[in-house]
Amino acid sequence: MVDKDVYYQVILDGFSRYLESPFMADVTRTIIRYPDARFYVALNKNQMASKKWLIDELYRSKGSDLGTIYILGGWFGILSAMLLNDERFNIDCVVSFDMDPECGPIAEYMNRSHVEKNRFHAVTADVNRIEYPHATGAKPNGAAAPDIVINTSCEHMDAASGWYDRIPAGTIQVLQSNDQFDCEEHHNCVNDLDMFRQQSPMVEIMFGGELERKRYTRFMLIGRK
Ligand SMILES: C[S@@+](CC[C@H](N)C(=O)[O-])C[C@H]1O[C@@H](n2cnc3c(N)ncnc32)[C@H](O)[C@@H]1O
Repeated sequence: MVDKDVYYQVILDGFSRYLESPFMADVTRTIIRYPDARFYVALNKNQMASKKWLIDELYRSKGSDLGTIYILGGWFGILSAMLLNDERFNIDCVVSFDMDPECGPIAEYMNRSHVEKNRFHAVTADVNRIEYPHATGAKPNGAAAPDIVINTSCEHMDAASGWYDRIPAGTIQVLQSNDQFDCEEHHNCVNDLDMFRQQSPMVEIMFGGELERKRYTRFMLIGRK
């Protein structure tokens, strides 16, 4: 009997060849390299549906030219890989911030081909403390100031803890949260889109919507701070 890990890895590898998907190839390579990382959570159908929703609505709101993107709470770099491998977009660079030191190497491995082209950087940092280039001239890993800031982990971060205030006014923001209050890692869920809007004030809202999942609803706002 083939080892179960090998069994699924070989199938994923086969699908990525058949679909000619650089994203799937990047993910498969990274799962094989980091078998103990919680990819079964990061790649579950709810996470992937939420990320696909984000990417499609971002394209509708903003078009192809995305410039430099900062992702707050970027985890294993899956959203970064989805964006960087999406041929609809022209992206200068993605910088993925996560305070968990285990995430940086995994995210860099996931986005290895983009690291080589200076289009991806992973930074280990608490986003409540990062300095944006606008204010200080400091450039995380040499990256420019962000045109877009994405945070799909708002339910994990208290809005008043600093990360939101630090985003420079005028920046396009793409934010997701949810109402999954029963998850112990979530300490800032919202009841509905109105509550999310109040928590994340913007001068212009380009998109606001809900994505119903079986166990929770995901909320998303795209707009200018
Ligand atoms: C479980 S994951 C992401 C869940 C979310 N639904 C998503 O798909 O993006 C949340 C990530 O946020 C990171 N995180 C939480 N608070 C943070 C902070 N203050 N600064 C940087 N990263 C943070 C965690 O380390 C974790 O990798």
